Amino acid sequence: MRSLAAGALLALLGLTHAAPSLNTLDSRQVPEGLKNCNEAFFSSVIASKKLGGKLAPKSPYTSDNEPYEDDERSLYYANHETDLNISDICGVQIHVTDNVAFELYLPSPKKWNKRFLTVGNGGFSGRANRRDMFSRAVQNWATMSTNAGNEDTSDNLVWAFNQPDLQKDWAYRAMAKSVPYAKALVAAYYDGIPTLGNYYSGCSTGGRQGIRQIEEDPKSFDGMLIGAPAWNVRSAMPVASRIGWLAETSGLKVTLLDQELTARLAVHIFTLCNGLDGSIADGVVRDSAKCADLLRGSSRNETIWGASNTTISQREAYLTLIEEFKTPPRNQTYAGDGFDPTAVHDMAVGSYLLDGNLTGNFTHQFAKYFLGLPIIWDNDEHGAQLLKASDEWDKSIRANADPRSLNGKGPFKGKTILYTGTADGFVSSRGTRRAFELAGGANNKNLAYFEIPGMSHCVDLETASINPPWYIGGVGLQIKPPGNITYMPESTGLVDAEHDALIALAEWHEGKTAGKGKGKGKCKGKRPDTIVASAFAAWGSSQTNFTVTKKRPVCRAPMKQVFKGPESAADDENAWGCA
Ligand SMILES: *[C@@H]1O[C@H](CO)[C@@H](O)[C@H](O)[C@H]1NC(C)=O
Ligand SMILES: *[C@@H]1O[C@H](CO)[C@@H](O)[C@H](O)[C@H]1NC(C)=O
Ligand SMILES: *[C@@H]1O[C@H](CO)[C@@H](O)[C@H](O)[C@H]1NC(C)=O
Ligand SMILES: *[C@@H]1O[C@H](CO)[C@@H](O)[C@H](O)[C@H]1NC(C)=O
Ligand SMILES: *[C@@H]1O[C@H](CO)[C@@H](O)[C@H](O)[C@H]1NC(C)=O
Ligand SMILES: *[C@@H]1O[C@H](CO)[C@@H](O)[C@H](O)[C@H]1NC(C)=O
Ligand SMILES: *[C@@H]1O[C@H](CO)[C@@H](O)[C@H](O)[C@H]1NC(C)=O
Ligand SMILES: *[C@@H]1O[C@H](CO)[C@@H](O)[C@H](O)[C@H]1NC(C)=O
Repeated sequence: MRSLAAGALLALLGLTHAAPSLNTLDSRQVPEGLKNCNEAFFSSVIASKKLGGKLAPKSPYTSDNEPYEDDERSLYYANHETDLNISDICGVQIHVTDNVAFELYLPSPKKWNKRFLTVGNGGFSGRANRRDMFSRAVQNWATMSTNAGNEDTSDNLVWAFNQPDLQKDWAYRAMAKSVPYAKALVAAYYDGIPTLGNYYSGCSTGGRQGIRQIEEDPKSFDGMLIGAPAWNVRSAMPVASRIGWLAETSGLKVTLLDQELTARLAVHIFTLCNGLDGSIADGVVRDSAKCADLLRGSSRNETIWGASNTTISQREAYLTLIEEFKTPPRNQTYAGDGFDPTAVHDMAVGSYLLDGNLTGNFTHQFAKYFLGLPIIWDNDEHGAQLLKASDEWDKSIRANADPRSLNGKGPFKGKTILYTGTADGFVSSRGTRRAFELAGGANNKNLAYFEIPGMSHCVDLETASINPPWYIGGVGLQIKPPGNITYMPESTGLVDAEHDALIALAEWHEGKTAGKGKGKGKCKGKRPDTIVASAFAAWGSSQTNFTVTKKRPVCRAPMKQVFKGPESAADDENAWGCA
């Protein structure tokens, strides 16, 4: 198993620190397109529109004047290298309150595509998600991201202890305060050029933030691209602690250095369930429900498990993971979604849920610093306490997002594209499926839901043998460490409505062509039925080669990806369809 995906996953969960950049450029020449990219302009807009807050020191900036050169803590640090020739993007950082800040990237007025995009964060991380802002700013979107009200990564939640205001900022207020502010600056910077649309893109915590924002202000966005939303965070965090306990007590425990057992378990499941949809032997489990049916109650069945070199206790722990947890307290507002069977791979790669280190950072720190309850789910009574405390916590902090807000019957009238990978081991794909149903399911004409077979949490599932097409333009591509920024080159032909769900969303809302490739205009005024997902020759934190090696359509639910053949062309999108 290659470990490329590990860095990507950790970054999405907000668990990595970026290295510092030492790239200081001395040219201060302001390009023609940026004549308003200066302090006087933004300060006067802030004053005349009475926006409050203030411009951060060293802001605005272009690639010739980058703030934070010396800042090690920025999770999504974007180092604007001169060779990218993006000197005509104006960057601004605003302190809305003492702790809430956002950043804006503004392409030159001549190039601006007249769209405003807010991107979300990941995990509990603070700091603007510059990488995802950047990848769209180079495609001429005006982009914004908040710091979620804090400056830390998900490794350190100490800031939340006894700080309900900071917690609320993380939960929704940083976004609620920043979106209208940013829109006011966008309007001023482009001096009355009307926008074609306001959009949102986020995955995981980012998905949750988008839904929470339209609950605060339904007019915030015309369209949202929501990946694997952590909408049910109040249940998911205690449940994550239970998974750690299960791993610890069953011998499923893994660490980043020892993934042998779970990797083997994952490959066993891939092999066992790959053929269940009647298509081809490519390691991708396309029928998760059939796979779960096959496995249910099977721990002693050697026909199923004989080749896996696992103990009964390990199998039972695994089966508990993928089933709804049967132990009490089942009667709480407890998700109990379980996971799709291939999620175990993701859990092993990330190692965060299965590391069994219950005193470690992520899940335990949530209990300790958010709930003020320094216990772990090591028995049913503690489990019940955690769930109850988390429910109480959410009544005041209001972090949970309600998927019913997307059902078209409430005040939000925008369009939503929702997606998940079926091998997501962090935010359960079953939970995302439930969000789809709660949001009105296939009857909701403002909603399009896509399951990406084999994809893990927000990004790819990378093993030596399985590299399922996954990229559909969601956030998370900009995973490379600072120093060498990569972004989706137009030469891939993927920057169009056929391959990129954000562009499809824009075309759906606007009834106009967006994007550049052959598939432009495909979704003009129309809800997408398919998005063609792509896999790359190499993508990840240690190397990037955007040569597209496989393509397959992913299908709007309830349609499913079906194989048409021939087998020799299985990497070609035309060998697949939706039915
Ligand atoms: C950089 O952009 C400017 C303005 O858009 C253009 O004139 C110039 O040719 C570009 N340089 C390179 C190396 O692409
Ligand atoms: C074990 O699993 C196989 C394959 O699904 C099935 O045919 C068989 O009936 C199972 N055996 C028992 C004892 O359940
Ligand atoms: C079987 O599992 C044991 C314990 O996890 C491990 O040491 C051994 O290498 C495994 N054997 C094979 C063939 O995978
Ligand atoms: C708990 O849930 C079960 C199954 O849904 C139900 O039969 C039972 O009455 C519930 N108990 C309480 C105390 O709500
Ligand atoms: C917890 O966070 C600290 C500080 O970020 C980090 O050094 C440590 O490795 C983390 N521990 C675990 C178990 O992840
Ligand atoms: C678990 O995490 C805590 C906190 O980061 C650390 O102090 C401890 O050494 C870790 N324990 C193991 C067994 O890895
Ligand atoms: C950026 O890429 C170049 C060429 O591949 C490489 O020589 C250089 O070391 C990279 N820089 C960083 C900071 O990774
Ligand atoms: C990128 O991947 C393609 C397909 O595997 C390969 O032909 C090409 O040589 C690779 N390019 C680089 C720069 O590694």
